[in-house]
Amino acid sequence: MRRKLAAGNWKMNGSAAALAELQALAALSTSDSTDILICPPSTLISRAKSVAGNVALGGQDCHASTSGAHTGDVAADMLKDAGASYVILGHSERREDHNERDEDVRSKAKTAWDAGLVTVICVGESLSEREADNTLDIIGGQLAGSIPDGATGENLVVAYEPIWAIGTGKVPTMSQIGEVHDFMRMRLERRFGEGVGRTVPLLYGGSVKPGNAEEIFAVSNVDGALVGGASLKASDFSAIITALDAA
Ligand code: PGA
Repeated sequence: MRRKLAAGNWKMNGSAAALAELQALAALSTSDSTDILICPPSTLISRAKSVAGNVALGGQDCHASTSGAHTGDVAADMLKDAGASYVILGHSERREDHNERDEDVRSKAKTAWDAGLVTVICVGESLSEREADNTLDIIGGQLAGSIPDGATGENLVVAYEPIWAIGTGKVPTMSQIGEVHDFMRMRLERRFGEGVGRTVPLLYGGSVKPGNAEEIFAVSNVDGALVGGASLKASDFSAIITALDAA
């Protein structure tokens, strides 16, 4: 059985006042069958812990090294120590803003697993790659390059996030989402064995809102969502969680 996961990525948004939204979310969302995750800025994780209730916390990135002279970076162990149990890796904004390559994501994921964090590894094509009909090649390459050996249904979540759908209000057709998710499931089963590949939760991300969540969650092999903008407000995110719970 795969767990369902509703994951919120606050990106570079939120100071102490934003914890009221997390507290409200924790009060609204009491599901047994759906795991709920919020990835606030790392500055908020330890304070978030005291109001998060059943909502798990995660970082948005970590360094591939465990410690050392890396000004401005955060180590996986530090995220864990602050109260995180997940970390997002390879988000397209990291790939774009910080030139992260698949091999960087892979190294970070190994370090994160050693620290006991669950990794949410992001993959996704650009608009030009989609228009050139290269989507599955791109996704296949990113999966192969970004996920280390040793993945299990407990340490890995994969998020499919078409770059052109992030923060734009544009969403692929349901058949486009289904095609990519079925392909990712097949690739994970082939590489890690059916038993493992079947249990890795696959999230869709990119302009998920209360209004489109239900149809997205009805698509095969969609086990949840990675949500940016709509995770900042408890009322919006809890509506998405309710849709996932019902799926
Ligand atoms: P969005 O972001 O929901 O604001 O489109 C998704 C993401 O980047 O994870």
